[in-house]
Amino acid sequence: MKVIYPGSFDPITKGHMDIIERISDKFDEVVVAVLVNSEKNNLFTLEERKQLIKQEIKDYGLKNVTIESFDGLLIEFAKKIGSKIIVRGLRAISDYEYELQIAHINSKLYEGLETIFLVSKAEYSYISSSVVKEVASYKGDISTFVSENVAEKIMDKLIGG
Ligand code: PNS
Repeated sequence: MKVIYPGSFDPITKGHMDIIERISDKFDEVVVAVLVNSEKNNLFTLEERKQLIKQEIKDYGLKNVTIESFDGLLIEFAKKIGSKIIVRGLRAISDYEYELQIAHINSKLYEGLETIFLVSKAEYSYISSSVVKEVASYKGDISTFVSENVAEKIMDKLIGG
């Protein structure tokens, strides 16, 4: 069974990797789908975001995880790659409200599409890419939120190393 784990991944955090690792153990194939979206709002370009994920997947030793990008509606991407299962991580109730709405919309737009929610591990429940970037912008320590490689790349971008 092939599942899709979509997101912006600007950049990938340890919270994302926890979800990917857990689903890669439970499904035959995991496709990490990186939203192209407007590059100007992102710290990293699409290629950089994909490259960072690729390195994480390698470091975690996950063999059944591939990375693709998509633009436009997620359901169109799901149709294209032949999967009807989307996985999303839930960190808090605030995530749930938004995610529930999107899950309903997606299943309305693509009949039979299922969204599976995984509860984030407690230690990652407060992590988001945005918060990580904010901490980093003030030169705070982000080593518990992202890998060493990702932390380095964020610092390079924000404060030139
Ligand atoms: O970075 P995030 O917030 O974890 O990811 C959100 C994402 C990419 C899963 C979501 O914004 C998305 O699927 N965008 C594509 C457009 C779409 O299909 N939206 C849902 C119907 S409104």
